[in-house]
Amino acid sequence: MSRLPLGSTTSLLVLTGAGISAESGIPTFRDAGGLWEGHSMAEVASPEGFAANPQQVWRFYGERRRNMTGVTPNAAHHALVAAEKRLGDRFLLVTQNVDALHTAAGSERMIELHGNLMRTRCSVCDRPSFADTSTYNDKLPTCETCDGRGRKSLLRPDIVWFGEAINPQLMNRISRFLATASTRRTPSGYADLVFLAIGTSGNVYPAAGLVNAVRGIGGHTYLANLEESDNGYQFQETILGKASEVVPALFA
Ligand code: OAD
Repeated sequence: MSRLPLGSTTSLLVLTGAGISAESGIPTFRDAGGLWEGHSMAEVASPEGFAANPQQVWRFYGERRRNMTGVTPNAAHHALVAAEKRLGDRFLLVTQNVDALHTAAGSERMIELHGNLMRTRCSVCDRPSFADTSTYNDKLPTCETCDGRGRKSLLRPDIVWFGEAINPQLMNRISRFLATASTRRTPSGYADLVFLAIGTSGNVYPAAGLVNAVRGIGGHTYLANLEESDNGYQFQETILGKASEVVPALFA
């Protein structure tokens, strides 16, 4: 397997999905045995599902919080930290994962596009989200800030659910990163920009659209996945295999 073509001026945008954490022991969503096999997305991952049955939603996320105990990053997460150290501000990691394993590995130039499982926020007011490992088995949590204003509001996981918008500031940060990457063509014919998607089935937007955004400005696009992904045909290069083996080799 060849390495990523990273010269001394190349920018690298990385997108990760559930597949990068699979070997750390976290189930993916759409594979056999994945989270969406046993649960209805509409019931546990939408504002309507939360309004209809908040207990069921907290049971789902409470169990996912419990399952994080003892889970650690794998070689693929660590390889991305090393790449970030080498590239500095020419590196940006966008993750769809809410498991915080990139942070645990040491990634800093990173955007959590879909939120963070171990954080909680109010479902009504705009108080900042906070770190939280509680599983709320017995009693639904309510917001103290709203309480002080004479209102009862439920707390919810700080996760972007289906039908909810991604924070526009995060999308702006990605746009700014792409805007500063050089569009000057290298001898290979590509702009000085590499995009690497790891462990994602390419089903959920806007993340699934990043490959086209990068191609639109001439970048060189790579997919590292266990199997062909649903938007795999949009990538110029595909490397099939386990993230923990393929990703370190791409940066070797
Ligand atoms: P998916 O479950 O849709 O896709 C995971 C991908 O990882 C699949 O294509 C697998 O083949 C691949 N895979 C599995 N094990 C792997 C391994 N060891 N190495 C490399 N690849 C592996 O997960 P995502 O694409 O991340 O959103 O899903 C995107 C979003 O849909 C999630 O963030 C979540 C979900 O609904 C929300 O909850 C908002």
